[in-house]
Amino acid sequence: MGRIPQEIIDQVLDRTDIVEVISGYVNIKKAGRNFKGCCPFHDEKTPSFVVSPDKQIYHCFGCSAGGNAVGFVMRYENMEFPEALRMLAEKAGVEVPEQRADDGMGGSISAKLYEVNGLAAEYYHKLMKSRHGAAAREYLKARGMTGGTADTFMIGYSPDSWESLRKYCETKGFSPAVLRKAGLTVPSDKGRGDYDRFRKRIIFPIFNERGKIVAFGGRVMDDSLPKYINSPETPVYNKSGVLYGLNFARKSMRDKGCAVIVEGYMDVIMTHQYGVKNIVATSGTALTSRQAAMLKRYTKTAVMLFDSDQAGETASLRGLDILIEHGMEVRVAALPSGEDPDSYIKKKGREAFESVLEQAKGLFEYKLDLLIGRLGKRDVGGIVDEMLPTISKVGNAVVQSDYLKKLAERLGVHEASLRYELGKVKPDYSYRSGNESGPPSGKRASYKTGELHLLGLALTDGKRASRIREETPPGSFSEGPVKDVILRVFDLYGKGVTAREIPGRLLDEYGSDEQRRGAVVQALARAEIGGDPDKAMDDCLCYLKKERRDEKLRSLTLRLKKAQESNNGDEMRELLVKINKIHKEKVT
Ligand code: CTP
Ligand code: MN
Repeated sequence: MGRIPQEIIDQVLDRTDIVEVISGYVNIKKAGRNFKGCCPFHDEKTPSFVVSPDKQIYHCFGCSAGGNAVGFVMRYENMEFPEALRMLAEKAGVEVPEQRADDGMGGSISAKLYEVNGLAAEYYHKLMKSRHGAAAREYLKARGMTGGTADTFMIGYSPDSWESLRKYCETKGFSPAVLRKAGLTVPSDKGRGDYDRFRKRIIFPIFNERGKIVAFGGRVMDDSLPKYINSPETPVYNKSGVLYGLNFARKSMRDKGCAVIVEGYMDVIMTHQYGVKNIVATSGTALTSRQAAMLKRYTKTAVMLFDSDQAGETASLRGLDILIEHGMEVRVAALPSGEDPDSYIKKKGREAFESVLEQAKGLFEYKLDLLIGRLGKRDVGGIVDEMLPTISKVGNAVVQSDYLKKLAERLGVHEASLRYELGKVKPDYSYRSGNESGPPSGKRASYKTGELHLLGLALTDGKRASRIREETPPGSFSEGPVKDVILRVFDLYGKGVTAREIPGRLLDEYGSDEQRRGAVVQALARAEIGGDPDKAMDDCLCYLKKERRDEKLRSLTLRLKKAQESNNGDEMRELLVKINKIHKEKVT
């Protein structure tokens, strides 16, 4: 790529006033020599974002973002340097020479692709309105779309022909290579030249954030398959970085402080027609991180609107986690069975649609209700598995704490258990760490798994505690914190303290004794979030018995060896009998 000459860059900066540029995006007020406002790059309530007209720079004292006007536009608009500079140059009336491309297509590839996409969109749109587009117009009319809406979204019609677009674009000077690169044509395998990708379909041009056409979706006008054909990825189209309708929605999102996320092209278009404009579509895939980052620049609140059939899908729930990760507040609304936003707003009108949005539940409540409904309240482990990754992504510690508390209440487990499990959550979804060492917190003691689990079972239920007490003769537990704690637990039950009270009591008692506190918390987490307690109890007791037996065998074998060395026949015989007896005892 050719570089933009330095003198042009200087000219653009000379003729640009950073205050004017930034005030187009951020509400800034004069404060002494400078201007101040709330930083658009991080969450804040008291302004620490300063723009200096003297130095022509901005700086945020909160997140230390800073730079000149081009830097600001790059960051805010998510643009590369040349693009941001061109935008400012256009405003400043400075001509920037076209960058030279190195692929022999002449001019910048991106510019060419935008251009040919624009031409194709106009072609399809005009065709839709011509006498060749009667069936398309009929289809759109039947779906309730007005002519004005079709114009706004540049809805088009691609004719039933293999080459009409290619020929049209060629007469306008675009090479077959450019058309192919734009994804508008497809190379023929019979060597007969390229053919048009979209044929006999309703065309939805896909705009980028700034309203340039980057791709197309083409829908059949009947029930045939595939329902949609979409442009492939191209140098100007990366599916995961585009939200359909964002260019039309940005202003309304800012004004309303909220973004509505739906699935389909038609959902965006028809709700727009009814006056709901802060709406974008993921185009049928799960929300990506890049899309979330784009949205975040306009608003901090999002409502996900699911078709009812889709609400239960874990994949879509994970799209929600991505929004949380980007620090957005997420709510979820669901439509009645069988409806999508397009059908619903047509049937019930704008007000009903907006009240569905108003009734959206917070993500936490929504997800928890859904999981309880799906897994049943008793599958604590399953529910925790799905909830903790979400909670772990909440940046705000107070909110996170609140969620943990609520979750503990709903599931009837201790907050400490959840907090411990949360420590094990890895940033991805396969969060359960395979080893038993728990979170990497440095000085964590390691406890014997079986003993720890028994302690947990005793902690959470008095009846189980008595059984454990009965079935573990002295010496069953190895010396250490777990044993200390479990003895204390037996003691407390003996004094009539309830299972509900014991963990808190112990944690108070142990104060800064991290070993014993750790034993309490980890044991609780195991018992409350692990599987079926009765089965776990049998397994652990059995395991403990086996340990004790192995221990006994080891010591007898040692004594046998000594007896052999000292040739003590009586003792040897006695020991062998004992050893054999233990071997015969079947441990189940
Ligand atoms: N989609 C796609 N390819 C498909 C099906 C769907 O790309 N074969 C994308 C489109 O972006 C579509 C979105 O997924 O808009 C939602 O799919 P769906 O609900 O099936 O389509 P609608 O847009 O609701 O289509 P319509 O109402 O016209 O049937
Ligand atoms: Mn639909």
